[in-house]
Amino acid sequence: TRGGIEFAVADLDAAEFGRKEIRLAEHEMPGLMALRREYAEVYPLRGARISGSLHMTVQTAVLIETLVALGAEVRWASCNIFSTQDHAAAAVVIGPHGSAEEPKGVPVFAWKGESLEEYWWCTERMLTWDGEGPTASDGRTLQAGPNMILDDGGDATMLVHKGAEYEKAGVVPAAGADDADEWKVFLELLRASVVADGSKWTTIGAGVRGVTEETTTGVLRLYQLAAAGELLFPAINVNDAVTKSKFDNRYGIRHSLVDGINRGTDVLIGGKVAVVCGYGDVGKGAAESLRGQGARVIVTEIDPICALQAAMDGYQVKRLENALPEADLVITTTGNKDVVMVEHMAKMKHQAILGNIGHFDNELDMAGLARYPGIRRVTIKPQVDEWVFPNGNTIIVLSEGRLLNLGNATGHPSFVMSNSFSNQVIAQIELFTKQAEYDKEVYRLPKKLDEKVARIHLDALGGELTKLTKEQAEYIDVDVEGPFKSEHYRY
Ligand code: NAI
Repeated sequence: TRGGIEFAVADLDAAEFGRKEIRLAEHEMPGLMALRREYAEVYPLRGARISGSLHMTVQTAVLIETLVALGAEVRWASCNIFSTQDHAAAAVVIGPHGSAEEPKGVPVFAWKGESLEEYWWCTERMLTWDGEGPTASDGRTLQAGPNMILDDGGDATMLVHKGAEYEKAGVVPAAGADDADEWKVFLELLRASVVADGSKWTTIGAGVRGVTEETTTGVLRLYQLAAAGELLFPAINVNDAVTKSKFDNRYGIRHSLVDGINRGTDVLIGGKVAVVCGYGDVGKGAAESLRGQGARVIVTEIDPICALQAAMDGYQVKRLENALPEADLVITTTGNKDVVMVEHMAKMKHQAILGNIGHFDNELDMAGLARYPGIRRVTIKPQVDEWVFPNGNTIIVLSEGRLLNLGNATGHPSFVMSNSFSNQVIAQIELFTKQAEYDKEVYRLPKKLDEKVARIHLDALGGELTKLTKEQAEYIDVDVEGPFKSEHYRY
């Protein structure tokens, strides 16, 4: 704690560099800056206490400071152990008007290269607010928490839900021998907090007005909770705003996938054979990214529609085992688990590169790789490991199987994140100010707001939008001012 602000970042001295990059990013994030102007005197988030779990990058810094400009109090952690940009984290703690001696920014708990224990500690600190919480019926002062959550991948939401569930049951289950390390560490953290205070997570869950979720994987978890009737508060699915998933997931990946491969390995991509597992929004961006560098791209898919799209786009569609003998690079983008197993890895070409860009590392069988008889790990540099099989064949694994665009590079660039984060801010305002209008379900933002976000970014690029005449609008049955498409339109 310094200047009254609690934080855990790598190096406060990096803040000046962070501030300079934030300043450059602001110009590239016209959507967020337009929202700051639009709400300059309104402060729609006054009274909001937002706990955020999202990659602590320069772009996220602009998001955080936009939430603060709109009146919110904010606490932040990263949603991945490798994705924090330490200079951005430091700058956010110090804030635009603070100093190293007297930080005036936001409590941030994030650094690049956290252990799993540290990761969950940071998430817990980010959800635990100072000061007094509500008073219980028996007069006890309860834990202060957020009244809004901003999540990416659903870990913060899961911590609150699992914590409340285990408090109700009065016990935290024991981890199974086959459970992933991540889950074991998670249960350990909960065991401590659930035992210390039998009501911490229940109270926090009851105080949250809503969560806004950034990504495909987190949204899947929310729909599962809602279907089971277990969602503790309303949720907005930000991912499926068109100006999010059809832009960030695709054009963001098109930029940041090759960025990660280049910074990690600097191997020439042109002329190589690259396998992309999954041809959803992220897979489409990944394939385009690799083809743009001159790679011959092969796609694997389970869904015939996406597989046919890949074929129509000029990619070969194959099963992984049939593509492996010629693959120089294998990239997973499925949001699914067990996509590349250790048996596959053992069949890869010498020094082939393996990476994942989906949300969790379980797309790759990292546990199986570590257990492979006679395997040896040679760390080339942070987030780049060579795994040596007993026959001398090696593969290069990026970011230990975690999303490589954020682990090996700096994630998506500002302009595309401005689209995603404008939707985040709008969704936060929506749930915070209109809580009574939402049930404990998962909602999407209205198309009109999606079009507003697109319009701001099109303007910034100097695009000229054609205007409908009244007659034309009537002919295609839309309003002159939009929305221009029906809900079932797919873009
Ligand atoms: P999506 O649902 O549009 O695409 C996933 C595709 O993978 C689907 O077409 C599905 O049919 C396919 N698939 C599923 N299992 C498969 C298997 N075993 N083999 C081959 N294909 C399989 O999802 P989206 O939006 O493309 O997201 C994918 C993942 O990327 C999610 O985990 C998401 O959270 C994450 N993401 C990561 C970002 C980053 O910056 N690294 C940015 C945005 C999303």
